[in-house]
Amino acid sequence: MLRIAVCVSGGGTNLQAIIDGVENGAIANTKIVGVFSNNADAYALKRAENAGIDNVCISPKNYENREAFNKAFIEKIDSWNVDLIVLAGFLVIIPEELVRKYPNKIINIHPSLIPSFCGTGFYGLKVHEEALKRGVKVTGATVHFVDEGTDTGKIIAQKAVYIEDGDTPEVLQKRVMEQAEWILLPGVINEIAKKEEYR
Ligand code: GRF
Repeated sequence: MLRIAVCVSGGGTNLQAIIDGVENGAIANTKIVGVFSNNADAYALKRAENAGIDNVCISPKNYENREAFNKAFIEKIDSWNVDLIVLAGFLVIIPEELVRKYPNKIINIHPSLIPSFCGTGFYGLKVHEEALKRGVKVTGATVHFVDEGTDTGKIIAQKAVYIEDGDTPEVLQKRVMEQAEWILLPGVINEIAKKEEYR
């Protein structure tokens, strides 16, 4: 059984795609053992609660410094004894210590075809605003391993989405989610779960 923790900060539609995939069998041999958020208002936490999944909010605001938060974050993740950490709209800088503890065991979903429109400052609608500003005809989403950089880890999977005339950032974001993110992330988790080591 592949044990995963999902880290979220917002609406949790990617988390929901994972929850649904585990429930309907599109994601085999997988248990979501915990959902972690830095944001108490994240609707993703409600989605976890509704699915009966252990969930916790630990906010950097409640710690005197980033080092203290990182320690609490890592201790929580360790307590779940996971095989894979999934970042699904998680707006927290990942501590290097966590990357070292979980080499090639942390994956992230990014709403563009990396190496386009990624790196520091490229998150949420900003990614789609930039794609529209540049006039690209094709965008999409990427699942990649997390390393010490920002959106720089080895690419695992990508899915292209065509930009259409009149697209706004919001319309494009929704299409990239529907046609790429919510398919890619469950698909990658399913492939990892099928590995012999998790049988
Ligand atoms: C998604 O667009 C994802 O690509 C990005 O953050 C957003 C999270 O959305 N990393 P949600 O919280 O999964 O709905």
